[in-house]
Amino acid sequence: MNPEINIYPTPDEVADAFARKVYELVRNAAGTFHWALSGGSTPKLLFDLLAGNYATQMPWHKIHFWWGDERCVPPDHPDSNYGMTNQHLFSKISADPGQIHRVRGELDPETACAEYIREISDNVPVQNGWPVFDLMMLGMGDDGHTASIFPDRLELLHSGQICEIAVHPQSGQKRVSLTGKALNQAAYVSFLVTGKSKSARIRQIIQQEHGSSALPAAHIRPVEGKLAFFLDREAAGELRI
Ligand code: 6PG
Repeated sequence: MNPEINIYPTPDEVADAFARKVYELVRNAAGTFHWALSGGSTPKLLFDLLAGNYATQMPWHKIHFWWGDERCVPPDHPDSNYGMTNQHLFSKISADPGQIHRVRGELDPETACAEYIREISDNVPVQNGWPVFDLMMLGMGDDGHTASIFPDRLELLHSGQICEIAVHPQSGQKRVSLTGKALNQAAYVSFLVTGKSKSARIRQIIQQEHGSSALPAAHIRPVEGKLAFFLDREAAGELRI
């Protein structure tokens, strides 16, 4: 598998390029487009751009929004990935609430996880027994985690469940995360990674260095879909290409 590596000078240009890719994918989609979003801070630039430059031209009615992971907090909590997306995107576009499938982080994690699995199973097309998201947007932590699959829980990469409850290794915060097999079923899997703090992990993963198998993001290899990296110059700074 040779991933597509896209490198741009700045985070703004990464966001611009990814927005263009999303627009292309959604426009070319025959019907409903199931997009699993990443959380954290990196997506904010992208969401602001989509809410601005694409507010009218993006066929929002085709998109159903999901998350690769969500923190087990209420939607108005500062850590909520839904809350961040609502602030930077949903509050500024005409997205039908019926198209937004958030993890109900305000519930106990077991209930939220089971409910999200049911929501995915009822709405996302299935292949080989797994949901196939049209676009799986992923970030990566400095420790090489992706979604909420952290290095101390590599078994989540091989779970037979669509989602599992994860725990942030430092904060102890519980999360609901898609598992490795669910991530790898997607038609188009794309990492959006910026910043110098990510450069060593990006080098290890893309150059498949010895030891990279300890990094969850290194196990993101779509079964049939495409894998792409959208990086800024800082995150790509250690790559030999
Ligand atoms: C989350 C994310 C997580 C994130 C990385 C990178 O819920 O935190 O889904 O996987 O993408 O931690 O986060 P930053 O974009 O903040 O560096």
